[in-house]
Amino acid sequence: MSLNELKREGDINKSSLRSQWNKQLSEQSTTLLQEDERSFLKQSMSTPCLEAVSDAEGCYITDVNGKKYLDFHGNSLHQVGYKNPYVVEAVKKQVEELPFIPRRFTADITIQAAQALVNKTMSKDYRVLFTPSGSAAVGLALKIARKATGRHKVISMWESFHGAGLDTISVGGEYVFKKDMGPLMPGVLKGIPYNGYRNLINSEDPEEIASFCLRYLEYMIENEGNIGAVLLEPIRATDTHIPPRSYFEGLGRICDQNGILLIFDEIPTALYRSGTFYVHQQFGVEPDILVLGKGLGGGIIPQAAVLVKTEYDCAGDISLGHYTHEKPALGSAAILATIDYIDDHKLGERCQVLSAFMRDELNKLAERHECIGDIRIAGLLISIELVKDKGTKERHDDLAERVLYYCLERGLSFKVSGGNCLTWHPPLVVTEEELWCAVSLVDEAFTALGK
Ligand SMILES: Cc1ncc(COP(=O)(O)O)c(C=O)c1O
Repeated sequence: MSLNELKREGDINKSSLRSQWNKQLSEQSTTLLQEDERSFLKQSMSTPCLEAVSDAEGCYITDVNGKKYLDFHGNSLHQVGYKNPYVVEAVKKQVEELPFIPRRFTADITIQAAQALVNKTMSKDYRVLFTPSGSAAVGLALKIARKATGRHKVISMWESFHGAGLDTISVGGEYVFKKDMGPLMPGVLKGIPYNGYRNLINSEDPEEIASFCLRYLEYMIENEGNIGAVLLEPIRATDTHIPPRSYFEGLGRICDQNGILLIFDEIPTALYRSGTFYVHQQFGVEPDILVLGKGLGGGIIPQAAVLVKTEYDCAGDISLGHYTHEKPALGSAAILATIDYIDDHKLGERCQVLSAFMRDELNKLAERHECIGDIRIAGLLISIELVKDKGTKERHDDLAERVLYYCLERGLSFKVSGGNCLTWHPPLVVTEEELWCAVSLVDEAFTALGK
């Protein structure tokens, strides 16, 4: 796979800028990175590592040399910040009281966690299964849709990511996960994802783009027949594309009319990251199956969940998940503590205020720098798309990478998506001042790098 192909998918770990970065690493860091390479399997986008860390607290990670990074990457799992005191306390207490719940047994803590998630939905009409990873949760969602509809075909979206298992790369729309993997799951079709900036009809009108995507979806459904489910991220976490409300109303209608289950993957975006507790709540359309993960474990425990509308609780005669940790004691304690922290600290309202602040700051930034082609923001999901020319929208991949390393050197970490989008997922406990510092640093980077 060429460097350019890889860039479409995410950060590059083997570019000349990475080689330069490596030269400034301390001896201790270099030794640890070498040991890491000797110990772990190589994989694109994850290896070789950037640095070795020794601490993570609040919005920051600290490397082994004591340098702190404001972390707007965090694998999108740190809504309540690292080492959140509520979560740490709850998990410690749970370890001492009841660390594990074997299959065929239950406990109050895990019932409470499931009910707390359901109570946050609009209809409160869901049943829950816990899984150890987001990928496993998406796999479960697909199995439930097959069982409930009797149909195995599913439509997911090009460019999407739903996990790295064989089933989830089948529904994912990124080549880097499928390369060399051979035959994948049958019956998977790909729809056109909503993209308000780059789309096949060259439109800037959200309603027109939404209608185009939905028309194509209907066309697929009519011509393929027997579709059981449509799976998508309501707001894409990387690149951050935010469809209008009409898109979701159309999706709901099309699925209802065709007896298709609507599955929303909100793994990186729920828990107020996008401005509402669950992403779909801002659009008023509830999915039949909702998939959660990442921040659910409070940034400490690997934890995911599938919420399924009660009417589709129909798989009593088969084994669905059968996960070793399907009644997760520590994960449940982490979920409850995360929700308590969010509620007690009004992180939802805080997110709205910070989002408005960022919108203003980023709009001002875009006025100063021609290289900013588009800014997309939902809550604290932020994407800054860099282009060489606003007219042609040619992606400015090189600049995005140079800005990334400029910021990393000065203590700001984030992800580059699609080769040219600076993707920021700050923890919801970030302050206005920290956000302002990040914007100022990027402003400074554009100026210093001559753009
Ligand atoms: C949208 C989406 N779905 C699914 C997953 C898979 O989650 P996990 O890494 O916990 O398997 C991810 C992880 O990045 C994701 O972003």
